[in-house]
Amino acid sequence: MIEARNITKIYNRGKFNETAAVVDISLKIKDKTIVALTGPSGCGKTTMLSMLSLILTPSSGEILYDGDGVLRASDFWKTVFRRNNFGFVFQHINLLPQYTALENVLLPIYASDEDPAQYKERATMMLDELGIADRAGHLVEQLSGGEQQRVAFVRALIKNPRYIFADEPTVFVDEETSKIIYRTLTRLRDEGRTVVISTHDVELMKLSDDTFRMCKGRRA
Ligand SMILES: Nc1ncnc2c1ncn2[C@@H]1O[C@H](COP(=O)(O)OP(=O)(O)OP(=O)(O)O)[C@@H](O)[C@H]1O
Ligand SMILES: [Mg+2]
Repeated sequence: MIEARNITKIYNRGKFNETAAVVDISLKIKDKTIVALTGPSGCGKTTMLSMLSLILTPSSGEILYDGDGVLRASDFWKTVFRRNNFGFVFQHINLLPQYTALENVLLPIYASDEDPAQYKERATMMLDELGIADRAGHLVEQLSGGEQQRVAFVRALIKNPRYIFADEPTVFVDEETSKIIYRTLTRLRDEGRTVVISTHDVELMKLSDDTFRMCKGRRA
């Protein structure tokens, strides 16, 4: 279970551009569920997702994983915890353009001590599930935006993480790919993964087990 207790994020505190992006939000995310954060542009979804996934430290409040507060842990601990347990699909795709789709997917494996050969089959299976198996050997810079989004998606899932964080995972993709992403997310949940997404996509909200609506940084 992931729990946020009264978390607030103020950007640029004390400056002319101070922004209260998230204000006093508490929520609980149960294991093996899909949870959607939703609300209008600028309401704080990405900020919230970044705090839940320990990329961004809240100005105040606490985040607990399985009942343990994690914000006071060292940066090193958080980095290792993220690497071992989290998969990320964020809006900035962050692929390496001059490497192939398959190489990009295997990047988290190259970055660890594991043997990439062991993951090739899973990578190929997932690229196939996302409908881009025939692009595996293509350079990422030669792929369309939607194809790149799907490569990033497979990369996030390659190590079969316990928690998956996805910021608007269907925003750049066509209807057909959206459906594939719905299926993949549902499969992951059914296999026991916990999926936290931000989205405006009504279909994604429908398949979510819980939806948290936000408005101007607060729970609506
Ligand atoms: N790094 C930052 N520094 C300062 N202000 C920021 C920063 N990131 C976001 N903000 C501001 O915080 C507020 C919440 O932004 P956030 O990106 O969390 O919203 P969002 O709900 O994800 O929006 P969208 O649906 O457009 O992606 C916005 O007013 C935004 O301008
Ligand atoms: Mg956002």
